[in-house]
Amino acid sequence: RHTHAHFTPFLSAPESHWCYEIQPTLSPCLVPVKWGGNCQKDRQSPINIVTTKAKVDKKLGHFFFSGYDKKQTWTIQNNGHSGGLDRGPGISGGGLPARYQATQLHLHWSNFLHNGSEHSLDGEHFAMEMHIVHEKEKGTSRNVKEAQDPEDEIAVLAFLVEAGPQVNEGFRPLVEALSNIPKPEMSTTMAESSLLDLLPKEEKLRHYFRYLGSLTTPTCDEKVVWTVFQEPIQLHREQILAFSQKLMKDNVRPLQLLGQRAVIKSGAPGRPLPWALPALLGPMLACLLAGFL
Ligand SMILES: *[C@@H]1O[C@H](CO)[C@@H](O)[C@H](O)[C@H]1NC(C)=O
Ligand SMILES: [Zn+2]
Repeated sequence: RHTHAHFTPFLSAPESHWCYEIQPTLSPCLVPVKWGGNCQKDRQSPINIVTTKAKVDKKLGHFFFSGYDKKQTWTIQNNGHSGGLDRGPGISGGGLPARYQATQLHLHWSNFLHNGSEHSLDGEHFAMEMHIVHEKEKGTSRNVKEAQDPEDEIAVLAFLVEAGPQVNEGFRPLVEALSNIPKPEMSTTMAESSLLDLLPKEEKLRHYFRYLGSLTTPTCDEKVVWTVFQEPIQLHREQILAFSQKLMKDNVRPLQLLGQRAVIKSGAPGRPLPWALPALLGPMLACLLAGFL
């Protein structure tokens, strides 16, 4: 049977009387510095990540993705309601304290290629940012204290998007569907695809940054464990610009202060080695040494 999953590539502002800075609005709305809820607290997102300051933490191993490869017929909506995924995809590993279920996916963009991402790396913004939002599964925490701890109730996987030379075939169904939802509240069904179709190759996902922060839209609840992957998704520039041409633009919250928080990272600093190499080095050295005996 088909699972109809909700897919939310868009955040609407007007109905909830908050808005982003640049959006032209018909009625008065609250711009980011005036957002209510928890938005003025001090553990907010997004942030700039200074990559050389992030300490390597060995606990940040690779992720296990389940159901990410399942082809589904997604319903995409031109609004910000988070729809539940019926027994949908999930993640574990990645230094997370529990298993998390995917509940929603959306993107942020502007109408320029240099400033549509929410997070930045060493001061550099990217063309877009994709967020896959997950909720902690009840009863999968490794310890009781963490199970009661709300600061990691939600796990967001953040993927930066940059312009590349080729059309990204994995994004084709989504980009084509954008034409069907020009107005808020409209929805459409996308050609069958899987979450994995949207991501960089799995072996590229071993390098990521981790910190505790908030949702980036009101009410900005401080209950998100963030994972920002180092490897960007590459889309053709026309695919990126399709978002701002077909939908609204600049749904990007300004950077927030890191404050007392630390950002940590997985793996070794600098450019990642091809993943198989460290595994190969051991046996190979052993062989060479054996040859000398
Ligand atoms: C992106 O940059 C352009 C000009 O360089 C500016 O007009 C626009 O407001 C910026 N958008 C965001 C979301 O910062
Ligand atoms: Zn988001």
